[in-house]
Amino acid sequence: MKKISVTKLSLVLMTGVILFSCSKGDSGGDTTPTPPPATCSGTPGPLFNAVKSLMQANCESCHNNTIANGGMNWTSNCNIVANKDRIKARAVDNNPTPMPPTGALSQADKDKITAWINAGGRLTD
Ligand code: HEC
Repeated sequence: MKKISVTKLSLVLMTGVILFSCSKGDSGGDTTPTPPPATCSGTPGPLFNAVKSLMQANCESCHNNTIANGGMNWTSNCNIVANKDRIKARAVDNNPTPMPPTGALSQADKDKITAWINAGGRLTD
């Protein structure tokens, strides 16, 4: 009799622990990757389009469907949105080395990337 209730009690406790850790979601050292938010649907906005066209001129020759240096293909709008942090690091902050490697972007082009990211960095911005 006593054994059964101990088993039941620990079952209840374990369920509680499992539920608690699931509800913690993406906070803390959870190893499960959270799926990226669906930010690349809708109509491209003006800030995004400004970035897209400067990237067509300055980046796509080395980052396209055939040659995707560093695994980056900028012909896809979704790839641009999903990798905006990497784009900012390389093309605005020149960190660790500038993109394009042949010479950093003009300040005006860097400003377009910064403006888009500050506005939210979505396709629709
Ligand atoms: C002349 C060719 C060339 C051009 C033009 C170029 N890239 Fe790259 N890119 C590379 C190469 C080669 C790599 C892989 C080596 C590296 O990471 O430095 C790379 C890697 C990257 C990476 C992935 C590495 C990381 O740090 O995450 C990003 C992001 C990137 N480029 C962004 C850009 C952007 C944005 C532009 C335009 C503003 C651009 N690149 C233009 C050649 C180029």
